[in-house]
Amino acid sequence: MNSLLEIKNLSAAYGESKVIADLSFKVPKDRIVCLIGRNGVGKSTTLKSIMGLVKTPSGQISYNGEDIIKLPAYERVKRGIGYVPQGRDIFPRMTVEENLELGLEAGGGKTRKIPDYIYELFPVLPLFAKRKGGDLSGGQQQQLAIARALVSKPSLLVLDEPTEGIQPSIIWDISKAIRRVNTELGITVLIVEQYLKFVMGISDYLYVLEKGEVILEGETDSLSQEKVQKMMT
Ligand SMILES: Nc1ncnc2c1ncn2[C@@H]1O[C@H](COP(=O)(O)OP(=O)(O)OP(=O)(O)O)[C@@H](O)[C@H]1O
Ligand SMILES: [Mg+2]
Repeated sequence: MNSLLEIKNLSAAYGESKVIADLSFKVPKDRIVCLIGRNGVGKSTTLKSIMGLVKTPSGQISYNGEDIIKLPAYERVKRGIGYVPQGRDIFPRMTVEENLELGLEAGGGKTRKIPDYIYELFPVLPLFAKRKGGDLSGGQQQQLAIARALVSKPSLLVLDEPTEGIQPSIIWDISKAIRRVNTELGITVLIVEQYLKFVMGISDYLYVLEKGEVILEGETDSLSQEKVQKMMT
């Protein structure tokens, strides 16, 4: 199958401390892929490597057939990778609308107006357009962060633990929105998660990570939740 993103023999480090030594995995076009694993195995570091936010001394990150490993973060965003960091990272003192407008700029200004599909996917956002980001609930902030990454219509959406600290009803809203992003907008999705029920429900393919290495992978339908759970404990 055609890969939109392909990581090969990647290493990543903070200063002298190497967190990932030799990681390889693929994200096929048009699918929803999850990367899971216990705390501290290097999930966020993997996503930061894809975004160009951490040192990657060796390996390849090929996106749309181009090796992007040497490109600065903003160039990767311009090429169509939308990123929602762990902890969401919205601007609490700016309004919802202003937060979304920042996403337009990050996308290189291809689009000037917040597209209608954003408000259709997340109906709570137009209601709170003039409210400060910091006044939204955790789940609403997560929706805002995802929306901000989507305003410039990326071809790959990368999410770091979108369910972390969020109440169950909003988790399922977010799950539905991500599915629609995939099926209706044709955006490929890579999600880092620890919440297994969410992962088993949303992903087509999954990788289990341990100390920066893939220890299990497969079509989600072919894996039992028990087996995956065991690999994570
Ligand atoms: N800025 C940093 N400087 C030094 N070490 C770091 C830094 N960020 C993370 N690490 C270390 O790198 C390792 C992997 O961290 P990472 O955040 O990628 O894990 P994770 O799988 O995302 O964990 P979690 O599930 O808790 O989010 C950990 O040992 C962590 O302590
Ligand atoms: Mg993390």
